[in-house]
Amino acid sequence: MTSLTMDDECMRRAVELAARAYGETSPNPMVGAVLTQNGRIVGEGFHRAAGEPHAEPLALAAARARAVQGRGRLTLYVNLEPCCHTGRTPPCVDAILAAPVERVVAAMLDPNPHVAGRGVARLRQQRVRVEVGCGERQAAELNHVFVARQRRGRPFVALKVALSADGCIAARDGARVKITGDVARRHAHRLRAGYDAILVGVETLARDRPLLDRRLYDGPGRAPRRVVLDPHLRSRAEWLWRHGARPLLFCAEESQRKARALEAEAEIVTLPYDGTRFDLHALARELERLQLWSVLVEGGARTHAAFLDAGVWDRMLLYRNRSYALQGLEWHAADAWRRERQNAKRVEVTTLGGDTLEVFAHPESVWLPGER
Ligand SMILES: NC(=O)c1ccc[n+]([C@@H]2O[C@H](COP(=O)([O-])OP(=O)(O)OC[C@H]3O[C@@H](n4cnc5c(N)ncnc54)[C@H](OP(=O)(O)O)[C@@H]3O)[C@@H](O)[C@H]2O)c1
Repeated sequence: MTSLTMDDECMRRAVELAARAYGETSPNPMVGAVLTQNGRIVGEGFHRAAGEPHAEPLALAAARARAVQGRGRLTLYVNLEPCCHTGRTPPCVDAILAAPVERVVAAMLDPNPHVAGRGVARLRQQRVRVEVGCGERQAAELNHVFVARQRRGRPFVALKVALSADGCIAARDGARVKITGDVARRHAHRLRAGYDAILVGVETLARDRPLLDRRLYDGPGRAPRRVVLDPHLRSRAEWLWRHGARPLLFCAEESQRKARALEAEAEIVTLPYDGTRFDLHALARELERLQLWSVLVEGGARTHAAFLDAGVWDRMLLYRNRSYALQGLEWHAADAWRRERQNAKRVEVTTLGGDTLEVFAHPESVWLPGER
């Protein structure tokens, strides 16, 4: 077993603190900070939500509240490069420079083009020692949604599917069946809490009338907004959810005339439509306009295939039951997935009771350790 250094331990703590705000910081990343003096932790903080103070000034304030003096070296550990621009809060670099911090350990640079190494450069100009890279893999994974969004310049798109052992997604007659076990379902509900929106195709809405909520998970995070791709506006008012935020239906311009019947239940937005499919890049722009920065696409197969064909995806999550052969409806996105999978990076394999979760990342969405 390798023993962890003080730096590793403190960065692990910073990541742990950051993760406390899981699902609450969008569109910002999750950030935690730990301040040490003479090898002892003297302050901690984490960013709770957009518009709230950042982790670094909170850790510094915690140390001040404990009357920590300037004697002895102060080291600041933070899982993302400190910011150097004024957003809703002042730059963290200024707060660090105003305190007697001698050394900053950052897990990774900030992929936000407004920062991207400038925070580190300013600290170094002022003779603060800065080291980048400790705990980088964990930090990049924690903020993979934020990283991909900065990389690809659009909201984060994850595709999720539950498959039986023989690759099916529903019973032969299309009826909904429980494919995965309780552990996997609880995992999926926690996942939902980290997203701004959950999206399904209208056929899934019509057949399953899914709740699309996070009732099996009571931790922090959001109740994601429900979104339906419904080009012909086939949805009926009684199919739509009455609790939570108003659902969002995307339809083709020519279906707009049917909107009146649904307007009380849903917000209806038109998208460019070629007679078969929406322009999913236009969908991404609309989601951004609506401040929905991350979307979990839960299916069904035609919906998944459309995102895969357009290359509009950042992660694929395959929950697969290891023993249940359903002999039902096959997942028709499998061909599109086989194509995309060739360049995808497998980032996780987890056993969840009788199911296995495999997670793949799009090659353009990932942070490569060592990026400077
Ligand atoms: N196991 C799982 O994880 C899982 C998850 C969800 C659903 N399901 C199952 O999947 C089945 C439904 O799948 P499905 O493939 O038949 O239907 P679907 O993907 O739920 O919905 C397809 C319909 O949604 C609209 N749509 C989807 N993507 C679009 C795009 N990019 N552009 C324009 N319109 C788009 C179209 O509506 P129009 O038909 O009006 O053109 C399309 O025919 C159900 O049996 C459900 O139980 C399984």
